[in-house]
Amino acid sequence: MLIFDAMKRFALLLALLGFLSCGRQETVELSLDEKLALTHAQSRFSSPGVPRLGIPELWWSDGPNGVRAEALWDSWAQAGWTSDSCTAYPALTCLAATWDESLAGEMGICLAEEALYRGKDVLLGPGVNIMRLPTSGRNFEYMGEDPFLAGKMAAAYIRGVQSKGVAASVKHFALNNQEKARARVDVHVDERALHEIYLPAFKRAVQEGGAWTVMAAYNRIWDSHCSENSRLLTDILRDDWGFDGVVVSDWGAVHSTAAAAAGLDVEMGTSTDGLRDNPLATDYNAFHFAAPYKEKILSGEIPADVLETQVERILRLHGRTTLSPGRGRGRFVCPEHAALARKVGEEGIVLLENRGGLLPLDAARTLDILVVGENAVKKMAVGGGSSSLKAKYEITPLEGIKAAFPLSRVRYERGYVGDPGEVYWGVSSGQDLTDPRTPGRLVEDAVAAAAGADVIIFVGGLNKSKNQDREGRDRLSYTLPYDQDTVVEALVGTGVPLVYVNVSGNPAALPWHGRAGAVVQAWYLGSEAGTALGAVLSGRVNPSGKLPFSWPSALEDTPFYGNERTYPGILREDGRIMDVYYDEGIFVGYRWYDHAGVAPLYPFGHGLSYTTFAWTDLRTSVRRGRLRVSLSLENTGDRAGKETVQVYVGAPAAGEGASYERPLQELKAFRKVSLGPGESQRVHVEIPLPELGCYDSAQDRFVTVHGTYVVRVGASSRDIRLEKQIEL
Ligand code: GLC
Repeated sequence: MLIFDAMKRFALLLALLGFLSCGRQETVELSLDEKLALTHAQSRFSSPGVPRLGIPELWWSDGPNGVRAEALWDSWAQAGWTSDSCTAYPALTCLAATWDESLAGEMGICLAEEALYRGKDVLLGPGVNIMRLPTSGRNFEYMGEDPFLAGKMAAAYIRGVQSKGVAASVKHFALNNQEKARARVDVHVDERALHEIYLPAFKRAVQEGGAWTVMAAYNRIWDSHCSENSRLLTDILRDDWGFDGVVVSDWGAVHSTAAAAAGLDVEMGTSTDGLRDNPLATDYNAFHFAAPYKEKILSGEIPADVLETQVERILRLHGRTTLSPGRGRGRFVCPEHAALARKVGEEGIVLLENRGGLLPLDAARTLDILVVGENAVKKMAVGGGSSSLKAKYEITPLEGIKAAFPLSRVRYERGYVGDPGEVYWGVSSGQDLTDPRTPGRLVEDAVAAAAGADVIIFVGGLNKSKNQDREGRDRLSYTLPYDQDTVVEALVGTGVPLVYVNVSGNPAALPWHGRAGAVVQAWYLGSEAGTALGAVLSGRVNPSGKLPFSWPSALEDTPFYGNERTYPGILREDGRIMDVYYDEGIFVGYRWYDHAGVAPLYPFGHGLSYTTFAWTDLRTSVRRGRLRVSLSLENTGDRAGKETVQVYVGAPAAGEGASYERPLQELKAFRKVSLGPGESQRVHVEIPLPELGCYDSAQDRFVTVHGTYVVRVGASSRDIRLEKQIEL
């Protein structure tokens, strides 16, 4: 369907070009200048079309979970519009935590509708860089540590976005797994980890998502910038995977005109030295794909067909977007979009611990609830880097809790002061959270307020500030910032039951977690944050989120702790390039903890429910090249709920004449199931046998090893409920 659709649109484009030419006796043939213009920016976030032929400009916009506010023509700064405050959807770690592909598709559709309304043709998301470090600044924008989960969720999201004639841009291709020195690192990774861990989500986004654009990353691999890396952009992306779309650079990631022949199509964001009277201005004619490119074409240094190939891809992108008939004008900040943002939040929130059924709190009673923590009142849609949003509204956790418990007395204490304000490139959250009290006084006041409370809800975690969940830097510590541990310990010491709600896109050390009554991971939920959180805490929604990453107790449990070579890398003599070595190879995330025999605090795929489920009768069979797995799932509790069946497969290491080090198990299928109380369902999943293979570096291809496999189905990577050996 996708291909036919694209063919239809491309045919229309050619017809349009033909009509225009016969109508006006003009040659359809584009001039050299018209062709060159298509390959690079004309402003911060737009690239030209062909005015003579009625081909419009292309407008590119961040970001993965909302349409970014309008910037000035030639600047990152805000244009100060009053009509560009968007719906802020949950960040993508939350979407991944829903483990619900159909929801990802719905979110893609809603995002595309908002992009259309704002006149944007390419939405710069989803980001699918694998979470290698639990401290990388941009993990909150990505979809976790497992390439299968990230790939499946990204593909569904992309199909949704593109179903409305807006292109997605899967990013950052590839191996942009840290923010520290992101434009200066040269990543060294073995071929198995490259093909089994870091590329698969991009491959699935291209082959199953049908991505129309891919964004080349800032970093180097094999000592060559991704934006001019022909093995990456041509051999792998196009020749091996069949990608027929446009490769756009990350903003400022192009360093030479050679990128054109390597497979890069559109150059964005290059900083020039002004050249014009205003040295701060950008001279778009100084872009690598502008005047310098023209010279190289005219001199024959770069063959003309390199440019022809780029033009063909860019016109195909126009056929899919700007020239696509019936795209409509989309919708912006409508009730349906709010409902979807809320639904993704409700489905993505993860109940990590719940002692003695402390949660859900009974909204029918009159409780004395003390809410503590800056993240209960701090708006988070703003900030974090390019995914920062000017949200039309953002319901805070405190507002959501008050609304969810109308009969209760809800009091608030700050507890600590982190980042009192947030202005990002001119967009402000509109809050000034300054508090003159000392840290000691803030704790005293919170402890004093705890007297008489039935329950404390502490809302803390990280935020979008520097060295927190923000692009361009990584976290410097795994500990909760602003000494939150002291506040939580003091509150736990009062003996009042405490619910800890963690707002973040990354895990953090929770040394006191065993003394909390409950622990909830609440992500960055966007406009409907408080409503989604209130729904889960009050039981209006039964939580069903599952962690898309492992949550280590301490950084010491990770393979790169205290090892500069593996993170952040070793600076070369030139004082610029840093060589970072992914020495852990394929053992990333749960693959690492299983291999190292280290138990994470919360395992990959973990998430509790307010009900219980029984798993029985696991059956497997192999037919027509697919491994079929089925089992029965029953809701044995007294309320409706959703469980995500996770299917992990452990493959044999040794095969005929070869042996490969393999992870204990790898996620190969999942299915989220909704069941009423007492209801049961037969769950079926299928796994194409080639997906059970591993990459053989010598043969440069995936191979399937014959032998004994273990199928393990569970509610998390470490909560395996049924398992079965099979011979393949
Ligand atoms: C940024 C980010 C990228 C974003 C682009 C445009 O540097 O790396 O994700 O889409 O530039 O803002």
